Amino acid sequence: MSEEAKPLVKWAGGKRQLVDILFKSTPIEFNDYYEPFVGGGALFFKLYSQNKIKRAYLNDYNPDLMNVYAVVKSRPNELIEELKVHGRYPNEKAAYYQIRQNEPEDMVCQAARFVYLNRTGFNGLYRVNSKGKFNVPYGRYKNPKICDEENILLVSEALKKAVLSNKDFEIVRQQAKPKDFVYFDPPYHPISKTSFTSYTKADFSENEQVRLRDVYSELDGRGAFVMLSNSSAPLITELYSNYQTQNVLARRAINCKADKRGPVNEVLVSNWRS
Ligand SMILES: C[S@@+](CC[C@H](N)C(=O)[O-])C[C@H]1O[C@@H](n2cnc3c(N)ncnc32)[C@H](O)[C@@H]1O
Repeated sequence: MSEEAKPLVKWAGGKRQLVDILFKSTPIEFNDYYEPFVGGGALFFKLYSQNKIKRAYLNDYNPDLMNVYAVVKSRPNELIEELKVHGRYPNEKAAYYQIRQNEPEDMVCQAARFVYLNRTGFNGLYRVNSKGKFNVPYGRYKNPKICDEENILLVSEALKKAVLSNKDFEIVRQQAKPKDFVYFDPPYHPISKTSFTSYTKADFSENEQVRLRDVYSELDGRGAFVMLSNSSAPLITELYSNYQTQNVLARRAINCKADKRGPVNEVLVSNWRS
């Protein structure tokens, strides 16, 4: 039986495979922890399991994802009950599309629908159409685990240390103080035109990458520990040329074309020397 909270959702760009490398690169001691692009939150859960989190600020622009965290934090047992109901639906295409089509108003039911679609949809992708409707196709998994009761309770415990928000990443400018640790894991700047960058209705453009670098520099000037993951695209190496950059090789499953799913070079940019 595992005792460590693990990411609740499969997430494009999720850091599960890289989390040990990332963990080794974190500051030995810091005050509060910030993840303004939390996604699946792999590094947060790792730091929590190593007793490194005093208080965390977890943010993501995706409202459906942040609703799941809010529900898991304060109403985990209601979510478990709801997911048990979802687990009784037959694992077949028609049931998937029916649940995808129904959009409940209650926040616990919304969270259960999100977890169900994340477990049973293609590659755990999150994608919405121009009207904001979730449109990922059925994933054809043999035996998806819809309700991981033990993990939901562990995650709920971990989230008691976290302040949750659903804002643009710049919120961290108002929050982080000297000696706090900020980890940015934004949508990656594409190396190729087919790279996956869309998690919400708004895309993360070149201007957004520049805006993020400006926030990075501001927090650096303030005396916070700042770390960023991104692709090794020339724009990124140029934007962070004043900082220490480490290359990391990651195996990505976020491209829907199998031949584009090989290892890609990512960079890890930090503003301190460990
Ligand atoms: C690479 S993923 C993060 C992966 C995460 N570290 C993990 O381990 O699963 C990037 C996240 O940024 C979020 N995002 C996109 N634009 C944003 C913005 N302007 N402000 C905050 N979050 C944003 C997306 O919803 C997505 O969850």
